[in-house]
Amino acid sequence: MEKIIIFDTTLRDGEQAPGASLNQKEKLEVAQALADLGVNIIEAGFPISSKGDFEAVKAVAKSIKGPVICGLSRAINKDIDAAYQAIKYSKRPRIHVFLATSKIHMKYKLKKAEDEILRLAVNSVKYAKKYCPDIEFSPEDASRSERGFLFKVIAAVIDAGATTVNIPDTVGFTEPEEFGNLIAAIKGNVSNIDKAIISVHCHNDLGLGVANSLQAIKNGARQVECTINGIGERAGNASLEEIVMAIDTRQDIFGNLKTDINKNKIYKTSRLVSKLTGFLIAPNKAIVGANAFRHESGIHQDGVLKERTTYEIIKPQDVGFYGVGLVLGKHSGRHAFDERLKQLGFKLNQIQLEAAFVRFKQLADKKKNIFDDDLITIVEDEIRVIKPVWQLKSFRVDSGTDILPQADVELKKKGKLFSQSSSGDGPVDACYKAADKIIGIKSELVDYRLEAVTQGKDAIGEVNLKIKIKNKVVSGRGSSTDIVEASLLAYLAAVNKYVA
Ligand code: KIV
Ligand code: ZN
Repeated sequence: MEKIIIFDTTLRDGEQAPGASLNQKEKLEVAQALADLGVNIIEAGFPISSKGDFEAVKAVAKSIKGPVICGLSRAINKDIDAAYQAIKYSKRPRIHVFLATSKIHMKYKLKKAEDEILRLAVNSVKYAKKYCPDIEFSPEDASRSERGFLFKVIAAVIDAGATTVNIPDTVGFTEPEEFGNLIAAIKGNVSNIDKAIISVHCHNDLGLGVANSLQAIKNGARQVECTINGIGERAGNASLEEIVMAIDTRQDIFGNLKTDINKNKIYKTSRLVSKLTGFLIAPNKAIVGANAFRHESGIHQDGVLKERTTYEIIKPQDVGFYGVGLVLGKHSGRHAFDERLKQLGFKLNQIQLEAAFVRFKQLADKKKNIFDDDLITIVEDEIRVIKPVWQLKSFRVDSGTDILPQADVELKKKGKLFSQSSSGDGPVDACYKAADKIIGIKSELVDYRLEAVTQGKDAIGEVNLKIKIKNKVVSGRGSSTDIVEASLLAYLAAVNKYVA
C-alpha cells in the first residue's frame, strides 16, 4: 500500500475565504481537530501576512503534536524568516515557498522575466533550507504555466533542496485529463523528480477540484492539498472529505493507495469548521451535507431497508454520522446525557459538562424530543463560550403587522447591567440597534442565516451571521428555541469576537 499524504490547508487557504477568519483560539481548536482526524500536514497560516496570523501559527506549532506544521511564505527572505520563526516550535516544521511561473502572473503581477523568476525560486529554497530540511515549493498558477519553463523551475528547486513540489491549479482552470497529463509529464520530463514528492493543490472554480486531484493521484501525485468542507479562496479548494472518501470507497480503482485519516472523525471536524467559520454546509454537499445519507423517495427507502447498499455507497457511521436519532427527553438523567455525548465523541471537562447539562434541562423544558443535533449544538456552545465581554441578560420585543417593531435589550458586562430601547425594520433589527446603542458600535449586517437544527415546531433555531465593524468582518452563531433570542446571541457572539 502506498500512502497519499493529506496536507490540510483549512487554516490557510480555507481561512482566506471571505469572512471565514478565525481567531487564535479557534485556530487551535481546528488544528487539534485536524490532528485528531489524522491529517499528515497542517498548513497553519501565512505568518508574514499579519501579526495575528504569525501568533496563531506559532501557537499551533507550540501545542499541536503529530502532524507536520507548515507556514506559507513568498519567495522573499523576510517572509521565510517570519515563517520559520512561527513554525520553529514544532517538532516537524515545514516552510512552503511559492512563486508564480505562468506568463500572465510573471508579466502583470510580478513584472519579472523567466530568468529572474528561476533565480528567485532557487535562492528562496536555498535560503529556507538553512532553517529546516522540509521545504515545499509551489510554482503558483502551474496549470497555466508554459510547460518547458515549469519543468526547468521544478528541477532547479529540487536541486536547491525542495523535498515536495506542489503543482497548484491556482485559478481552478484545468480539467481532469489535462491535469493528469501534466502530472505525468512532470514525472516523465523532470530528471530529478524522484527526489521529491509531487503534491497537487486544486481550486474549485469549475467545480473540478476533487476530480482534478484524483486524476493527479492516478498519475503519480502522492500529496494532496485540501480543506475541510472545501472552503477556500473564491469557489474554494478541493474538499478533504471527498478526496479521502473517494479513495476509500473506490478501492477497486485506488486499491494500492490509502490515507491516514480517521474517517469516523470526518463529520465532527466538518461541523466544527462550519460552526467556527460561519460557512454553512449545503444540504446536498457530498459526505457531510445533511441530506448526504437521507433517502426521501419511497423506492429508495424500501431498497435501503431491504439491503443498505442498494442506495448507499458509504455507511454513514463510517464518517461519524449517526443520524438524527431521538435520544433524550425531559426525564433523561445525567448518566444518559454523559453517555450519549461520549458516543458522539465529545470529551468535556466537569465544568463544561455541568453547564451543558443545565442547558440540556432548560431545553428539555421547552422541547419534547431532543435529538443528537440539538445535543451537539448545546455542547459546541458550552465548549466554546469563555468569558464573553457582553452577555445577554434579557430582551423584549413588540412587533406586528400594524406597529413599528420596538425592542428593549438588557446586556451585562463585568457584572454591570446596561439597557437600551430602539425601533427597527423588524424585531431582530430593533434588537441589534438597541444592542449597538449599549455597546457603542456601528455595525453592518453582511450575512444572516437562520436554520432549524432539527425538525418540528419546537426545533432549536440556529442563526449564523456576519457583521462588519470598522471594515473587519466577524462571524457569530447563536441558538435558541426563540429565533429572536438566537439572533441576539449570534450578534453578541460576533461582537465579542470583534472585541476580543
Ligand atoms: O492556489 C495557490 O496557488 C496557492 C499557493 C500558495 C499554493 O494557494
Ligand atoms: Zn490556493
